[in-house]
Amino acid sequence: MNFANLLVEKENGTAIVTINRPAALNALNKEVLEELYDAFKGLEEDESVVCIILTGSGVKAFVAGADIAAMQSMDAVVAENFARLGHKVFNAVESCSKPVIAAVNGFALGGGCELAMACDVRLAAESARFGQPEVNLGVIPGFGGTLRLARLVGKGRAKELIFTGDMVDAAEAYRIGLANKVVAAEDLISEARKMADKIASKGPLAVRFAKQAVDNGIEMDLDRAGRYEAGLFGLCFASADQKEGMLAFLEKRPAKFSGQ
Ligand code: CAA
Repeated sequence: MNFANLLVEKENGTAIVTINRPAALNALNKEVLEELYDAFKGLEEDESVVCIILTGSGVKAFVAGADIAAMQSMDAVVAENFARLGHKVFNAVESCSKPVIAAVNGFALGGGCELAMACDVRLAAESARFGQPEVNLGVIPGFGGTLRLARLVGKGRAKELIFTGDMVDAAEAYRIGLANKVVAAEDLISEARKMADKIASKGPLAVRFAKQAVDNGIEMDLDRAGRYEAGLFGLCFASADQKEGMLAFLEKRPAKFSGQ
């Protein structure tokens, strides 16, 4: 996979996707968004990849937002199409069948915070800063910020962050549930790899179904979500991984999952 604005490395079942536009603090323009979409589609189909880590290049920013220089002269129709593209790409990240870990290495602002929120888990370097500063520019979040921030941290906190445009540091992001864990900046990628390796050692089908159960179930009422979860639980029993996982427990040995 060769991209102008992304680096994609693969090692031991984990792909690391690095947004690589450090001169613009990894800001998202149309080209970067289209490349991200292609990268995730490729990784979805790549059977050698079990987990994905998404990060930004350099020490300063994960992603400092949608590209303001590119947006400044947009008219309403072009802006709506740009936002629709952002939604399409972030939905592809969120609905990827493989777990996606955001390794937030600096500013995650606007579209950057929205991208981190489309990932399954957010590991934050101590230097990370999160925020939805769009109101400073006379606009609102356009790549899912109003939706995902409210779901992650609750309506009240989401509205406060979006209305004030304030940034929060990593410790505050952790406190409000926006970051899963805070680690030293120099340990960020190794900690993300450690988490990816741990997830990769589990039954891949079970992890995939669990992701579907959480992501889809949270949008349903409890009764439908319960039936949906029970259906996926039942489906696990059609897999070799369930037979192996339970047999290995009873034989007091580590399970060897095949993903079948
Ligand atoms: N778009 C385009 N370029 C950006 C950018 C962005 N979102 N963020 C930073 N850059 C560029 C700067 O213009 C600057 O370029 P030059 O060197 O060519 O001047 C370079 O990156 C470095 O940035 P700064 O000099 O500003 O660095 P700083 O350390 O002084 O400040 C910062 C860092 C606080 C992150 C500041 O750059 C900033 O506030 N950036 C904008 C953040 C923002 O408003 N993001 C939301 C964008 S709107 C959005 O995302 C809408 C949506 O939901 C879809």
